[in-house]
Amino acid sequence: MKDDVRKYIYVTILAFLVVVGGWVIFLFLNACDFTFTCKRGALLIERTPVPSLIPATMPAATQPSDLGQAPASEHCRVRAVDFVGAWVNAGASEEEPFQFTDINGQTCSASYVEINQLFTQSNYWYSGSLACSSCHSADVAVSPAQLDLSSYAGVLAGSRRESADVKGTDILGKGNWANSVLYKYVSANQADIPGHNNLITDALIYIGNPLATPAPTSAPTATEIVPTPTP
Ligand code: HEC
Repeated sequence: MKDDVRKYIYVTILAFLVVVGGWVIFLFLNACDFTFTCKRGALLIERTPVPSLIPATMPAATQPSDLGQAPASEHCRVRAVDFVGAWVNAGASEEEPFQFTDINGQTCSASYVEINQLFTQSNYWYSGSLACSSCHSADVAVSPAQLDLSSYAGVLAGSRRESADVKGTDILGKGNWANSVLYKYVSANQADIPGHNNLITDALIYIGNPLATPAPTSAPTATEIVPTPTP
């Protein structure tokens, strides 16, 4: 009886060792095949932790700031939201240039061409930003908020349009930037809406050109410019 128990114990221990040994051999063969020089367990080579590559699929950076070239003096530097606001407050013209004051206090000039770039080019608000018109496209049937930012006519036609031939809600606040829907959507963090976030709200961009002669102190600054009524 005592011997029987002892036998069971020995057999159990032996079976255990066989199973463990067999498992180790199985793992080794599985990973390394029949070789004694398996390097699978070798330490990983340490590589630089700096992610130095821009994803190859991104469109090329277009902002001078991203490219690190173009001396800052060439263009004005302004908060993108204020830039669009200056255009709206100046009457949102397609042809007429408008003025704005940049963050260095320079009086600068730009036109709808630059506004259009801001709406239709990627990487403009910040590195990696989507073009507004990639969502708000000319096809109002699929565009979010039925808003087309791809052209001047589209911007003026507004949002929530029932079809491509009708106008919708004015997004320019009838020339009053602070009251406009557009201001609301680019000046406050709308994190729950894709494409709208605080990177847009805070974006500082290089745009427009300083006026050739520094304005005399008596000249009106961009903030004092009386909005020209839209025709
Ligand atoms: C990733 C897609 C996407 C991008 C990019 C995008 N938007 Fe939007 N936008 C939306 C969505 C979604 C809504 C909300 C639609 C709704 O409420 O039905 C919206 C709403 C708006 C509205 C509100 C219209 C209204 O009447 O409610 C404005 C204005 C607007 N966007 C302007 C912009 C501007 C300017 C840009 C570029 C800086 C931009 N959007 C970029 C998706 C986008």
